[in-house]
Amino acid sequence: MSTSWKPDSWQSRVAAQQPVYANRTEVDEVLKNLAQLPPLVTAWEVDRLQKQLAAAQAGNAFVLQGGDCSESFADCNANTILRKLKVLIQMSLVLICGSKQRIVRIGRIAGQYAKPRSTNTETRDGLELPSYRGDIINRSGFTKDEREPNPQLLLRAYERSALTMNYIRALSEGGFADLHHPENWDLEFVRNTPGSRKYQQLLESLSDSIRFMEVVSSGELDQLTRVDFFTSHEGLHLLYEQALTRADHRQHGYYNLSTHLPWIGDRTRAIDGAHVEYFRGIRNPIGVKVGNTIAADELIDLIKVLNPENTPGRLTLIHRFGVDKIASKLPILATAVRQANLNVLWSCDAMHGNTHATRNGFKTRSFDDITSEIISAFRIHRECGTRLGGIHLELTGEDVTECVGGPANLTESDLPRDYRSQVDPRLNYEQAMEIAFLLSEQHK
Ligand code: PEP
Ligand code: CO
Repeated sequence: MSTSWKPDSWQSRVAAQQPVYANRTEVDEVLKNLAQLPPLVTAWEVDRLQKQLAAAQAGNAFVLQGGDCSESFADCNANTILRKLKVLIQMSLVLICGSKQRIVRIGRIAGQYAKPRSTNTETRDGLELPSYRGDIINRSGFTKDEREPNPQLLLRAYERSALTMNYIRALSEGGFADLHHPENWDLEFVRNTPGSRKYQQLLESLSDSIRFMEVVSSGELDQLTRVDFFTSHEGLHLLYEQALTRADHRQHGYYNLSTHLPWIGDRTRAIDGAHVEYFRGIRNPIGVKVGNTIAADELIDLIKVLNPENTPGRLTLIHRFGVDKIASKLPILATAVRQANLNVLWSCDAMHGNTHATRNGFKTRSFDDITSEIISAFRIHRECGTRLGGIHLELTGEDVTECVGGPANLTESDLPRDYRSQVDPRLNYEQAMEIAFLLSEQHK
């Protein structure tokens, strides 16, 4: 592995899952334009997240990462963003009460626009067109025009990310995220379950505690008027990631300032590939998805390339085996990493190993598979002497019908009612809250 890294040194490697643009001159113009636009996050925020991830690794915090499989431009609106933030904050309140730990909140948001696909093309009724690769690359409609990779979409994605980021910052800095106003925190369209009743009690005791603390400290507790919230996305489209990579003015190297936590997908983590080359040089904390095909020695080599100094908080391994495979895969990897004394934060993506197609043609996931994989992950890490320090979920704050099971016991015949995802099925609001209660039990 060569040691001379530059923001574009990945270009001499094989880059999987990249779009093929017809007009390279137009792409270059767009990239030049992007490189001059302001970053979406700052290096100080990125460093602060890394410290919090190091705390999670040390057992003093837990990471809640979640959001859409793929954001869509059409969903860049006030309501959708607010509901996503709301469900993640509500889940974190449940988790704080259950785990008595700090919860690090990270959205798959404000830039989660590029998707890896299993095939380059899709054929319908004899017509073969490029696969839909996310709104940053092409459009989901099945026409030649919509499926053609369009470089202008890079700018549109940057703008939507900035608009989303701006609204998230405004909401999390005060008003909405103020814990003095529990009326902002009521549950919506959630059935009367033991979990929801516990949640109402939790809100009441939270208000009591806040009042008590304020009487004792004779003033308003400023820290309770805002929440920390970080962003993440899969760093898939390397030309975009490179354009948002900036030299740090403190001479601390290069940061990807399009997001706080970029991650490498399971399909692009080849050790000699372009993604690993790009990621090894940036200063952000980074994630890697780890699926069933990785061997223990391959994982150890990958960790050493991505985190050569063994820095705590730098690397999060997000495993996604599926409920049937986790028991045979995770112990081998977790034990190997522990024995090699490598500092990683372990997180469980309980979604991507549990996807299946239904008879009526939907992609779905079963709530029971998701919860079983989470419970197994906690147990296996305990048995291996490692610690599950985070959870990675695809979820939405809306009442969609994409995953089966959960408190409403959705069945395959319920899926057509409100199935909106263009890619993977997400937990709806009620299912996501139920997972928070389950996680909270696991911490006890
Ligand atoms: C995803 O997180 O949406 C994804 C594609 O995951 P993976 O890389 O684990 O397949
Ligand atoms: Co997905």
